[in-house]
This record gives sequence, structure tokens and C-alpha cells, in this order.
Amino acid sequence: MVELKLQVEYCCYASTTELPLEYVALLDCAKKALAKSYSPYSGFKVGAAILLEDGTLVQGANQENASYPLCLCAERNALAVANIQHPQQKIKAMAVVAEKDDIFVSPCGACRQVIWENEQRNQTPILMLIQGPQGSVYSFTSIGDLLPFGFSGADLL
Ligand code: THU
Repeated sequence: MVELKLQVEYCCYASTTELPLEYVALLDCAKKALAKSYSPYSGFKVGAAILLEDGTLVQGANQENASYPLCLCAERNALAVANIQHPQQKIKAMAVVAEKDDIFVSPCGACRQVIWENEQRNQTPILMLIQGPQGSVYSFTSIGDLLPFGFSGADLL
């Protein structure tokens, strides 16, 4: 038996003032997307924004349903818009925020898997910017850092 350890490198910015301007704009875009959240059941508004390689910004927000399992997450809605409206553009980065601003907004497992699929599809890392508590922001250089041992199409071959 060999015991192995997994290490994840990530950055924590105390505030957005420490971030490059294009990421400040991406986070602002995700915050603006909160207004498009339809979340009458959980009351938990999530906003997402995607930065494409040509600089285009795309928004997503969670959309809930009285039939709870049909609720759609902000991240996957943003990915659907990016893939359908801008199919030629690779995704550079994604920001995820919540209206509740005192928490780390952890993307759910299903969203991590779908973001991973997009990263594999484009063969380009997707930088993840995630809202942390007290105005902080966390960044991960690839969704793979949030989904170690992720399942991909290559596993089906
Ligand atoms: N939600 C997201 O939009 N993204 C996530 O990664 C986690 C959860 C939404 C789904 C639901 O509308 C609400 O948050 C509560 O789970």
C-alpha cells in the first residue's frame, strides 16, 4: 500500500482591488447576474459570469422550479449560453457569486463536472473565481483543481 497526498494550489485575494481588471469586470458581471436569479424556493441567489477568449462576457443565474430537482444552477446556465451563443469561443474564466455575501460560494458537484467537460472540450484551463467571505475572492487556475480525478470522455474509450 502506498499512501498518497493531493495538494491544491489556489489564491485568496482579500478584496477585488488586488485582482487584474478583467477579473474585476468578470466578478461585477456575475454580481449583476444576481438580478436575473429566479429562486423563490431557496431564496439563495447565485450569479455566474463567463469570460470568453475574445473578451465577451456571458451571464448565468440560478432558475428554480416548484419541482425542486428541476432547479438549474447559475454556472450551468452560463455555460449553456456561452456554448450556444458563442460556439467558436473558448472559455477563459468563470466567476461565481451569491447574494449572501458572507460565504464561500462552492460550485456544486454537478456544475464542477459540467465545467470540467467544457475544459476538456476546449483543451484550455478555465480559471475559476469564487466569492469568499468578507469581500474576499478565491481563484483556481483550472476547474480540475476543484474536481480531482474528474471523470471525462477519455475514460469511456
Ligand atoms: N446553486 C447554484 O446556482 N450553483 C451552485 O453551484 C450551487 C447551488 C443554486 C441551485 C438552487 O437554486 C440554489 O442554489 C440552492 O441550492
